Amino acid sequence: PANKSLLVLPGDGIGPEVIGEVRRVVDWMDKRRAVSFNVEEDLVGGAAIDKHGIPLADATMDKALNVDAVILGAVGGPKWDELPFERKPERGLLRLRKEMQLYANLRPALCFEALVEASSLKPEFVSGLDIMIIRELTGGVYFGEPRGIETLENGERRGINTQVYTTSEIRRVAAVAFELARKRRGKVTSCEKANVMESGVLWRQEVTKLHGESFSDVELEHMYADNAAMQLVRQPKQFDVIVTDNLFGDILSDEAAMLTGSLGMLPSASIGDVDDTGRRKALYEPVHGSAPDIAGEGKANPLATILSFAMALRYTFDHGEDADLIEKAVQQVLARGIRTADIMSPGATLVSTEDMGKALLEELDSLAA
Ligand code: NAD
Ligand code: IPM
Ligand code: MN
Repeated sequence: PANKSLLVLPGDGIGPEVIGEVRRVVDWMDKRRAVSFNVEEDLVGGAAIDKHGIPLADATMDKALNVDAVILGAVGGPKWDELPFERKPERGLLRLRKEMQLYANLRPALCFEALVEASSLKPEFVSGLDIMIIRELTGGVYFGEPRGIETLENGERRGINTQVYTTSEIRRVAAVAFELARKRRGKVTSCEKANVMESGVLWRQEVTKLHGESFSDVELEHMYADNAAMQLVRQPKQFDVIVTDNLFGDILSDEAAMLTGSLGMLPSASIGDVDDTGRRKALYEPVHGSAPDIAGEGKANPLATILSFAMALRYTFDHGEDADLIEKAVQQVLARGIRTADIMSPGATLVSTEDMGKALLEELDSLAA
C-alpha cells in the first residue's frame, strides 16, 4: 500500500533533470521492494516565481509540512538573479528549511572506491574517506536580525547581516552530532571562530557543556573553522563528525565534496525534531545547486540526488536495507566505469544524466534478482 508520502520539488536548472532519475528509482522501489510511495510534485524557486510570482507558494509550504518527506532538486539561476532579495528563488528553499524547522543538515562526504582517481587529492588521502558534516541550518547569519541594505547620511550604503546563536540552537544541533558520532567512529570536531566571534565563544562553551553532561563517551575536539578548511584538504581522514554553523557548514561541505570526486556526488538530509504526531520533518536534497552552466544539456550527475533519496529511505522511512541497496548499486555502476562528465576519467564510459539513471536501475535489478 502507498502509505508513505513524498513531496517532490524539482526546482530549476539541472534540478528537474536529476529529479527525473530519482523518480525512476522511486518507481523501481514501488515495483520491486516492500515500500511504496504517494508522490506529489510541485514548484519551488524560479519555477514557482514564473508561475506564482513568489519562490514558494503557501499551498506548497502546507504540503511540505504534511508529508513524510520532501525531496528537492535545486533552485536558482541567472534568470532570477536580479530580483529583490525577498523574491529570489533561494528564499523558497530557506523558507522550507525555516518553517519545517530543519535545524540539522547532514552532509556525508563519502569517497566511493571507484572514484578515488576523480578527486583532486592524491588517492591515499581520500581512499576510504567517510566524513559526516552536520551543518546548523535554521540560524546564524542566514537568518539573524538586523539585516538589510541601508543608505547612510553621507550617501554611502551599508549591507548588514547578523550572526546570532542561542544556547538551545547550539545544543540541539550538537546533540545530533554526538548521537551520530556514537554510531560511527566516536569523534566530533566542532568548528567556529571563537577567537574572533562571541557567537563562536558561546558555541564552544555550549558544545563543551553538553558533552560533559551527556556525551563524555564521545571524543570532542574544537577547531577554528579556517583551520578546519585547511585540515580538510591536508588530512581529511582525521575527521569523523564535524558540527558547525550555517555559513561555515555551507562552505566546508562544498569543500568536502571535492574530496569525493564531485559536487555531483554529495547528498544531504535536513532534519528537525519529532512533532506531536510522531513525525520527524525532513527534506532531502543534493548539496549542489542548479548548475546553470550545464543545465538542459543532459550532463548533470544525478547520483547526489539519488543518494539523497537513499538517505530518505534510511532516516525517514526506516528502510535501511533499501538505502544500502541504492548505495551498493551506485558503487557497482561506478565500478563498471560508467561516468557523467563531472567524474569522467580516462578509459571510462561517458554517459548522460538519463543513461546514468538507467545504468543504476540495471544494477538495482541485478542486486535484487
Ligand atoms: P552549483 O552547485 O550549481 O554549481 C557549481 C559547479 O558544479 C558548476 O560548475 C556545476 O556545473 C557543477 N555541478 C553542480 N552540480 C553538478 C552535478 N549534479 N553534476 C555535474 N556538475 C555539477 O553552484 P553555483 O554555480 O554557485 O550556483 C548556481 C545556482 O544554484 C545559484 O543560483 C545558487 O544560488 C544555486 N544554488 C542552489 C542550491 C540548492 O538549491 N540547494 C545549492 C547551491 C547553489
Ligand atoms: C546550499 C545552498 C543554499 C545555502 C542556497 C541556495 C540558499 O548553497 O544548500 O548549500 O546557502 O544554504
Ligand atoms: Mn551551498
